Amino acid sequence: MKILGIETSCDETAAAVVENGKKILSNVVVSQIDIFAEYGGVIPEVAARSHLEVMMPVVEKAMKDAKCTWDDIDAIAVTYAPGLLGSLLIGTLTARTLAILHDKPLYAVHHLKSHVYANWLGDRSAISFPLLAMVISGGHTQILYMPEHDKFDIIGTTRDDAIGECFDKVAKILGLPYPGGPSIAKAAKNGDENKYKLPHPKIDGLDFSFSGLKTAVLRAVQKELGLPISHPSHDLKNHLSDKQVADFAASFEKTAIDILLEKLSEAKKQHPDAKSLVFAGGVSANQKLREKAEGAVFPEPKLSGDNGAMVAAAAYYEIQAGKQPTDPYKLNIYPRISIDA
Ligand code: KG4
Ligand code: ZN
Repeated sequence: MKILGIETSCDETAAAVVENGKKILSNVVVSQIDIFAEYGGVIPEVAARSHLEVMMPVVEKAMKDAKCTWDDIDAIAVTYAPGLLGSLLIGTLTARTLAILHDKPLYAVHHLKSHVYANWLGDRSAISFPLLAMVISGGHTQILYMPEHDKFDIIGTTRDDAIGECFDKVAKILGLPYPGGPSIAKAAKNGDENKYKLPHPKIDGLDFSFSGLKTAVLRAVQKELGLPISHPSHDLKNHLSDKQVADFAASFEKTAIDILLEKLSEAKKQHPDAKSLVFAGGVSANQKLREKAEGAVFPEPKLSGDNGAMVAAAAYYEIQAGKQPTDPYKLNIYPRISIDA
């Protein structure tokens, strides 16, 4: 079964053709990072306009790379939530139109589910159920318990910021370019991860909190520079040396990863029946996390971030689990709907 997957929830315009939820026949991703690096973050209106510009060329390239005609495609899958409203609209309207035009069944897929299913793409070692999945992205930080395919229980979630958002905001304080995750990881390579002691949030159970960590970095930078807490955060970068930036990046990266791993071992304690542990979402590209999380399964690094292949894979497993197609005339977008809804 060949599925065309379309993803436009944030700042990547992506389409891919995947066979049987596993074999990637094509995977085209056009990122808007260059545009948003200048602003230090995503501007939703600009993101939507950029999706509109490249959406059809991206779909056409995905079909061409996969050497497929429309006759070869069995279904179309698209991200319908969560995400930026304008961005989601471009992807869903494209998928709806293509489904009607080419008379294909349409499947609306939850974005976090897609991230989890990136772990089944390509030549992978076996993943066994029940499993624990840690979804760590720019918009989410959740621990999921999956008893079988397409069943998700949220057992832990962030009470405020997502971990990727925290990487992005800390990078901004340090004057490192957007997106913050890769630029912090790069700067951290030359830093001392024990230089600055940053706090771990005191939250019992499996929930997270990352807003305090971001503020702790801000206060530590102000203190290091001998500046008052009223000093504007956007100006701090002008006073930091390269060495200080590297040490802050390394100390922050270590603390963020340690917080994730602490919660993960708590989740394993609470769910001793879990046979596999998978990571998903943009932050799972982090190399230090990959080295420290022993025995865990990670997507191929290029599939950690947003892409269409994971959307097609998730739809495949949903179809296997009995999901019915969505009426293309009725597909709506629900930016805040939960993965277990
Ligand atoms: O999953 P994703 O591509 O988009 C969302 O669904 O949010 O995740 C994007 C997030 C950004 O916050 C980015 O800074 C972070 O993933 N990220 C990383 C790394 N690469 C991307 N965070 C830490 N280390 C990385 N190497
Ligand atoms: Zn994502």
